[in-house]
Amino acid sequence: MIVAIDGPAASGKGTLARRIAKHFGLTYLDTGSLYRTVACAMLADGLDPHDAEAAHHTAETLDLKRFEDAQLRTIAVGEAASVVAAMPKVRQALLELQRTVASTPPGAVLDGRDIGTVVCPDADVKLFVTASPEERARRRHLELQAGGDVQTYDLVLEQLRIRDRRDAERSEAPLKPAEDAVLLDTSELDIEAAFQAAVEIVSGKR
Ligand code: CDP
Repeated sequence: MIVAIDGPAASGKGTLARRIAKHFGLTYLDTGSLYRTVACAMLADGLDPHDAEAAHHTAETLDLKRFEDAQLRTIAVGEAASVVAAMPKVRQALLELQRTVASTPPGAVLDGRDIGTVVCPDADVKLFVTASPEERARRRHLELQAGGDVQTYDLVLEQLRIRDRRDAERSEAPLKPAEDAVLLDTSELDIEAAFQAAVEIVSGKR
């Protein structure tokens, strides 16, 4: 079984995807961490994330174990990730790995922006997870603080809007719900309620 979970930044899809994978005994792949690793490697090596050729080379020779999760989750890496993610050659370089994980038994839950539309258009279940920008910024602000990355709420909200716009307006694999995706708005739901709602949707599609 393949479960595709897409949505904008900090919509709660990562937490949800991890729990859904555990609940149904599936592999979990956070596809955003692939783009974040490309971005983090470029920043660490003094490369400009806007340099398409360097980004392509970095994606093709990627060492996925090079960084800790905390290094990948900063606001600067998220911003650079959305820059490299708009580049077709970077996306192409990361596609096969994602499809291999998805098609390996017993199946997987993948979360990202284009899982239901491009990576796994035949996924058994597609969820599009959203929440209001203000609620997403509130959650991301807390998350960043917990990781020691101190930012103002206003800056987090502004960065989130910039990133969402870039992700939704790019020509290659833009952020948008697949036609057959089920929408799940978590603005008013805590993690437990969102998880229960997602379990019902996945169980219903099985
Ligand atoms: O955790 P958050 O929702 O903030 O971001 P993420 O899922 O880690 O993704 C970071 C960036 O990678 C996004 O802003 C997208 O530009 C890009 N991305 C993508 O283009 N396609 C995916 N399947 C996953 C992430």
